[in-house]
Amino acid sequence: MKKAITLLFLSIFTALGMAAPALADECALVIEGNDAMQYNLKEMSVPATCKEVTVTLNHTGKMPVTAMGHNWVLANTADYQAIATAGMSAGVDHDYLPKDDARILAHTKLVGGGESTSVTFKTDGLAGKDLTFFCSFPGHFAMMKGSFKVG
Ligand code: CU
Repeated sequence: MKKAITLLFLSIFTALGMAAPALADECALVIEGNDAMQYNLKEMSVPATCKEVTVTLNHTGKMPVTAMGHNWVLANTADYQAIATAGMSAGVDHDYLPKDDARILAHTKLVGGGESTSVTFKTDGLAGKDLTFFCSFPGHFAMMKGSFKVG
């Protein structure tokens, strides 16, 4: 019985320990991409109180960037397909993104299996907008996309 109570307390502390950092930095989000051409999230959001957001992309797969590269790109939902199409012709040297395209609100670089990357961007003007995040590697955006909300 004593052992059960000890275990109960331990799990409460573990739960609290995991919850605390999330509350401490609600403006920092983490997303994973894998070798099956998938993100682990379909929705991401931050509270409107975040002036800046940091998104970290962890590629949990093993495949090289040339075969299964992933990035994280943010755009208005109305723009993301056109950006992905333009990105294909931009090529791998430009992380499959059109250069100096104002429609790209934020993006990470392209990474391969086992690598991580992150981007920090300001949320000015993004609150309440219909935003989409996606991967611009050719052919990926159909599966690798989701909604992003500020506020
Ligand atoms: Cu991808």
